[in-house]
Amino acid sequence: MRFPSEPFRIKVVEPIRRTSHEERERLLQAAGYNLFHVPADSVYVDLLTDSGTSAMSDQQWAGLMLGDESYAGSKNFYHFEAVVRSIFGYRYVIPTHQGRMAENLLFSTVVKPGMCVPNNIHFDTTRANVEHQKAEALDLVIKEAYDPHCELPFKGNMDLARLEEAINRLGRRSIPFAMITITNNSGGGQPVSMENIRKTRELLNRYGIPFLFDACRFAENCFFIKERETGYGEKPVIDIARELFSYGDGCTMSAKKDGLVNIGGFLSLNDERWAQEITNMLILVEGFPTYGGLAGRDLEAMARGLQEVLDEEYLRFRISQVRYLGELLEAAGVPILKPIGGHAVYLNAKEFLPSIPQDQFPAQALVLNLYREYGIRSVEIGTVMFGKRDQVTGRMIHPELELVRLAIPRRVYTNMQIAYVAESIVSLYNQRDSIKGLTMSYEAPLLRHFTARFAELSSPTTIQPPDAEV
Ligand SMILES: Cc1ncc(COP(=O)(O)O)c(C=O)c1O
Repeated sequence: MRFPSEPFRIKVVEPIRRTSHEERERLLQAAGYNLFHVPADSVYVDLLTDSGTSAMSDQQWAGLMLGDESYAGSKNFYHFEAVVRSIFGYRYVIPTHQGRMAENLLFSTVVKPGMCVPNNIHFDTTRANVEHQKAEALDLVIKEAYDPHCELPFKGNMDLARLEEAINRLGRRSIPFAMITITNNSGGGQPVSMENIRKTRELLNRYGIPFLFDACRFAENCFFIKERETGYGEKPVIDIARELFSYGDGCTMSAKKDGLVNIGGFLSLNDERWAQEITNMLILVEGFPTYGGLAGRDLEAMARGLQEVLDEEYLRFRISQVRYLGELLEAAGVPILKPIGGHAVYLNAKEFLPSIPQDQFPAQALVLNLYREYGIRSVEIGTVMFGKRDQVTGRMIHPELELVRLAIPRRVYTNMQIAYVAESIVSLYNQRDSIKGLTMSYEAPLLRHFTARFAELSSPTTIQPPDAEV
């Protein structure tokens, strides 16, 4: 287990409030046992998401002061556009306030009812945005991605045989474009290899189908390519990124991840007609094309973040800190998804709580107990997020993986806090028999995990936290 040493020091600190077990229980009940509804200042270590939670650098904060808030033609837009072009290489750069707006603009412009968008695995907002157009969001990741024990270096790869089969079955006209999500968040933050991306491009070329990336964690994916793929060990990550994007026709991006900012996103495309139509829609729903729902200062912070994220010292620390948490858990026998992902460690809830059936949301039960006992917030990626009701019988159709994601914000927590998280989870694992299943008392028709409410099946038993208070 290698201790990840930080390539930065702390200049500004944000105090974290300690809460008691009773307070957390009260907050959980008020939140309907949904951690999205627990106030953030009542969380000790917040691993809900790595999205929008990064600590910005002094360079980024300095950039905020250089914000040009002109309605049209802000100088920060031109800087941002030049940075995006220099990394991603696509002609048109369309800023949005976050990733799902980029998705919404793209899908509402290009995807028509009855069409199908293949992806390795669609993220929840991506799937919801495709389905909102009455189109099919088809996940075609390699089958090993669903085996939590299989240790492939590139478990986010697209299954090319299934992609070709889908194209032949549905017909080229039904597929407006194919996507690949780097890294594959919903499949454990697993990377996609350059070879797989190149072959996907070749396959799509044969059918004349455009190819886009969901690029949220592109730098982490490129670092894995450098670490794991033959021929890339000596290449700078920026060159790996340029090669990777050269195989695509565009991307959607939530800069709240590898843009190292708290808000921001963009679409970047080569197709002039799509870019034109999307820009028209952008003006209607986000704002003028040189700010797209953001302030000039946000664009500056994003431009600087996109450059900083490619710093290899930073990336080495980032990937090692996540790996450190995973290795501490593994050493104690806690079941996790392997290999350890780029931005998060995923607990395997089916093995952590084998006696709780998927109908009783074992991953959500883990999420709630981690908060109640140790003040740690995580997120369910399982039946709550991806389960679906059968239209005829009303029965729940379960996803294959039942996971709890411990997403590590970038440059935010110390290694001691990471060790606290590991110690807490090990302690919970040793008392796992006392954890109870849940029922869902409310669900919204779309993206239900954000607003669902739950009840515990029986009264909670007391679990001993490592600290009396956290
Ligand atoms: C892979 C992926 N795509 C898209 C999004 C959506 O981005 P945003 O939250 O900025 O709307 C996310 C957010 O977590 C994501 O992880």
